[in-house]
Amino acid sequence: MGSEKKDIVILGIETSCDETAAAVVVNGREVRSSVVASQTKLHEKYGGVVPEIASRAHIEKIYPVLREALDQAGVAPEDLDAVAIANQPGLTIALVVGVTAAKTLSFMWNKPLIAINHLHAHMQSAMLSEEDIELPAVALVVSGGHTSLYDCESPLELTLLGSTIDDAAGEAFDKVATILRLPYPGGPNIERLARQGDPKAISFPRSMLGKDSLDFSFSGLKTAVLYHCRGQDMKGEDHVGQMSEQEIADIAASFQAAVIDVLVKKTKRAAERIGARTVLLGGGVAANGTLRDAIETMCDGCRPPRKLLVAPKRYCTDNAVMVASLAYYKHQAGLFADLSLEPSSTG
Ligand code: KG4
Ligand code: ZN
Repeated sequence: MGSEKKDIVILGIETSCDETAAAVVVNGREVRSSVVASQTKLHEKYGGVVPEIASRAHIEKIYPVLREALDQAGVAPEDLDAVAIANQPGLTIALVVGVTAAKTLSFMWNKPLIAINHLHAHMQSAMLSEEDIELPAVALVVSGGHTSLYDCESPLELTLLGSTIDDAAGEAFDKVATILRLPYPGGPNIERLARQGDPKAISFPRSMLGKDSLDFSFSGLKTAVLYHCRGQDMKGEDHVGQMSEQEIADIAASFQAAVIDVLVKKTKRAAERIGARTVLLGGGVAANGTLRDAIETMCDGCRPPRKLLVAPKRYCTDNAVMVASLAYYKHQAGLFADLSLEPSSTG
């Protein structure tokens, strides 16, 4: 029937950091496939992502990951309406692998190319379950590289309200995990350990940067954890090795509580500022159950309560579903890129 709306099938690609990912998503929300090749094992011994290693691993994995995403979805290149790529922000030598693959496929298959901002895509993963968002909406994106608050008018209209002036929340989790001698990536390990700890055991600082600020700062908190473990003058021996498991769990729980306190208070502040009816939460740190619960309690406690939309846990950390999903809206708006598209570390 000629009047039936045609499905829009998009292949999304993500290589901004240490995950090589591809996904096929129909009409922005029906996930046909999602393949993620994680490089955690390669970076573990360095305690963080090594850009050169990440880039080489993307080169090795990009073809098999793309192949699997198309096979799992049962989709042939001719069925696609566009190829979407997260081209910013991220590690340039990692991004360039996905950008080159996407441009090549777009050219070979004669399909439109769509450029996606990785942070906006993280936010989109919170909107996967809901088509009609009650506006205004405030979005908190908490990842390894960024901590940002947005005023979200639609998937394509975002105004940055505040962001971190130093470490990102995920970066603070990873650095504190290193101090506590926990394996990389730190976030999930701190969360696991914090379940056995007392979040009130140590009163770590909560940097609010003034009563009107919507920016974040986590480097002071990280330093406070370091001082706690090494002594104020940093001359003392690192006595993490001699600490009991309970002491380490208490540090993890108290640190996590301080991060979450700031994230919740600033999100509340931003929501009040713009009169938000909806709060969106996405990014790797949004996988943290205690953060999810705390934001939910904050939203329920507002009068009237604010509606909370949180990214499903499997789409909090880097994936390509969020890229293909956001690309649907760009496709509908006719916002295409051309083959001069470049990766950018900022954005
Ligand atoms: O969004 P993401 O996968 O990559 C970036 O765009 O940076 O986020 C990765 C970050 C890492 O810092 C990781 O430690 C953190 O998300 N993370 C968590 C949890 N799971 C991942 N942080 C706290 N609790 C978690 N459960
Ligand atoms: Zn990310």
